Order: sequence, then C-alpha cells, then structure tokens
Amino acid sequence: MAKKTSRQYVCKACGAVHAKWAGQCDACQEWNTLEEMAVEPLAASSASPRAGKGRRVQLHGLGGKVELPPRTGTGIAELDRVLGGGLVPASVVLVGGDPGIGKSTLLLQAASRLAGKGERVLYISGEEAVDQIRLRAIRLGVVESSLDLAASINVADIVATLEAEPDVKVVVIDSIQTMWLETVDSAPGTVSQVRACAFELIRAAKRRGFSLILVGHVTKEGALAGPRVLEHMVDAVMYFEGDRGHQFRILRAAKNRYGATDEIGVFAMTDRGLEEVSNPSALFLAERRGNIAGSAVFAGLEGSRPVLLEVQALLSPKGGDGAPRRAVVGWDSGRLAMLLAVLETRCGLKLSGMDVYLNVAGGLRVVEPAADLAVAAALVSAASDVPTSPGAVYFGEVGLSGEVRQVSQADARLKEAAKLGFTQAVLPRRIARGSARSRPPEGMSLLELGHISDLVGPDVEAE
Ligand code: TYD
Ligand code: MG
Repeated sequence: MAKKTSRQYVCKACGAVHAKWAGQCDACQEWNTLEEMAVEPLAASSASPRAGKGRRVQLHGLGGKVELPPRTGTGIAELDRVLGGGLVPASVVLVGGDPGIGKSTLLLQAASRLAGKGERVLYISGEEAVDQIRLRAIRLGVVESSLDLAASINVADIVATLEAEPDVKVVVIDSIQTMWLETVDSAPGTVSQVRACAFELIRAAKRRGFSLILVGHVTKEGALAGPRVLEHMVDAVMYFEGDRGHQFRILRAAKNRYGATDEIGVFAMTDRGLEEVSNPSALFLAERRGNIAGSAVFAGLEGSRPVLLEVQALLSPKGGDGAPRRAVVGWDSGRLAMLLAVLETRCGLKLSGMDVYLNVAGGLRVVEPAADLAVAAALVSAASDVPTSPGAVYFGEVGLSGEVRQVSQADARLKEAAKLGFTQAVLPRRIARGSARSRPPEGMSLLELGHISDLVGPDVEAE
C-alpha cells in the first residue's frame, strides 16, 4: 500500500493543531502563525494492534516505596529554587524568554558553576561562535571553569558527540530554534524542525541520563516557533521575564514535573552578569519615596516566599467626553474595575470622573487577590491626597459587598514586613484557629479591617 502523508497546520505561537490553513489561529488569535507540517500516517499494523503482539506491561501497587530523584544543585540558589531543588538526571528543562532578556547569560553562569563543582557540562551554542562565548565568560568572570563549549547547529553531530562522551552530566542547547536536522525538510526555527530536533535531543538525554536544558526564544511576531510548541515534550518549562528597562529578571516555572510551579527566582542584571537577589523585598522597595499620596506597600506572596511591593495609583481629571482611562501595569485591569466599583458604591468614593493609573513598581506582575486592599489603600490615598502611613503594609482580598476577606499565610507576610522595618499592618480580621491566635511579630501593630469603608475613615492615617 502506498504511504500517504496527510497535512496539518500548527500554530507557531501556541502550538495548536488545525486541519485547515487559516490566516488567524483560533486558539490564540495570532495572525499568520499557522505553518504546514507533514504527518506520517501510522502503518496499518500499528494502528490496530492485534492480540499476540506487544508485551504485557508491568503493574505496580500504589503503596510501593518512592525514591526521590537525586538532584544536582546548579550553585545558583535562585535557579535551584525554581527547579525544585536542582537538576534531575535525564530530565529536560526548557528556558523560554524574549531575545536579549539574559537566557544565555544565566545558563552560561549556571553551566560554569556546575563545571566548577567537577561535573562534566557541555554548552552548545547555535547562535554564537566559541570566541564570542569566551568573551562573555570573561565579562562574567567565569573563565577558569572547566566547561566544554561547542558551536554547532547540526543535531545529528551533537547527538553523535554526546554518544561518545559517556560522563556528561548536563547539556545546554542555546537555542533550540537554531538547531537543524538534515532529515527534516524545512528551515531551522520552523515547527517541524524545532519539534524534530527537540525529540532527538530529548531521546539522547533519556537514553544517556544527562540533564538537558533547552533555550527557546519567545517572539511576538511568531517569526520562530515558540516554546509553547515544545511545552508538552519537556519535563519543566521556565520563563525568564522582566522589563528590559528594569534591572530585575524573574525566573518563573510554568510547568514542573519535579517541583512546584509557583516559585520564582529573582535576579538583577548587572555589568558582570546576573546576580541573585535573595531578598527581593528590599530591592523592590529600594526606590520608594515616603510621604507621597497614592502609594501603598503590599505584603505579597510569590510561591512560598513573601515579597513586599509598592503599589502606586495616580488620579487625574478626565479629559474630553469619552470614557475615563484605566491604565494598569502589573495587575489585572478587570480586578481594578471591580475595586473601583466597590469603592464608589460602598464607600462613596467618586472616581468615575477621573482617569486612573495603577502601577506595581519594579516590573513584577501581581496575580494574588490579596493585593486588593493595598490597591484600594493606594487609590484612597490618591483620592484624598493623604499619604498612607510610611510604616504600614497592606494585604487582604476585597469582596463585592466591600467586605475584607482572609488571605493565606498572614504570618509569613507579617514576619517579612517586620524584618524590613515596617511597624503596622492593615489586614483582614483574623479568625482564631485552634486554641489561640498567633501573636504578631515584635513591634508590629495590627489594624484589622472588616469592611473596606474602614479604609476611608480617619483611623488609617492616625498613628
Ligand atoms: P543574553 O544572555 O545574550 O540574552 P538572551 O540569550 O536571552 O538573548 O543577554 C543579553 C543582554 O544582557 C544584553 O543586552 C547585554 C546584557 N548583559 C549585561 O547587562 N551584563 C552582562 O554581564 C551580560 C553578559 C549581558
Ligand atoms: Mg542568547
């Protein structure tokens, strides 16, 4: 029987598969991102397995002994935290991010630290020549490390090299979009190439037991197949984010088979590479200026780690006849609309004639509902032109009837605030759990709110 290949169309931005070509992807609404991909049909015999073919798989009881995977620490604590404690042998990690955000820098630093610990590490670049990587290493001050470098885009060559190097522990491929397999009839960076190359490299990693780190660029224009196309093929996906205008970079796990996905790693880009930021609160609050109306400090939580952030609100009289502007950076605009409605309806704060600008300083994106109270405090402060107390932090969720609701891990937030010298916390009414309520940290006074209208009252500015 003649083999017939059918056609499929894959979106380069989100990885969705379509049967027909279209100008716009139904799944992610991006334009001009569908790309044709040939699909080999399954052979008739493998499509319908007959009895007698294939072996019986082994079945196990659920209650068996579990062995935690051994991990190799990278020597960069912020990276290890996001990985869930280090690299797992034979696992595959995809590190995505915008071009120029610092992926190569981070991985070169991690690779040379690992090599410095005596592990055999290969850093293979398809983007830069060996000399360029050496120059970067000089800038990063990691030249003396025993890291092995290679410049290649040919996956067949790379796999052959890896087969001949049995003691390799970690391999970095920078980037998967530059890799190329002769047997695939399309250019590097296309969905077919990216998938086929990743498949070959992942197979080698699973077979030889090394940890594989793939770098993937995210491009807005969809010029290259994005990391989304690979997300389901790898064990962990992390995104390196940050505003290029800011110093901070955040490494966030989007998927992790070996750890939690809500941990973040915080770095600062300096002229000597990425530096770990083990105390992000101090960094995010470093530029805060006290005694200005419209600013409130939010005691937030990123994963298991408390982080203090400054929320800034600015109100200005609406110009023209149109609807007032609501511009938000670092927070959800739907949530802001809700909070404005609650403040207007439940507290009589008239904001409909005002343009509202809200900013989470430092470039971090907050998703926690616990930020509601800090945003409300910033808005009330901006509207009344009275600064919030400089020693106060805020956290709590706000409901539609204006009630201030409980949020998780109040104690951790209070502890972090106390550590940074804050003396007052404005928070939801605490409910006693168990025998007694935990005591606030030394020197910290609590202002417990039941309703958001208490924020508008005079007792917040008192103190
Ligand atoms: P890079 O790691 O090449 O980004 P990616 O691999 O994600 O494309 O980082 C490039 C940027 O980082 C570049 O704009 C220069 C800056 N940089 C520093 O500020 N300090 C440094 O020590 C290094 C190596 C890079
Ligand atoms: Mg790079």
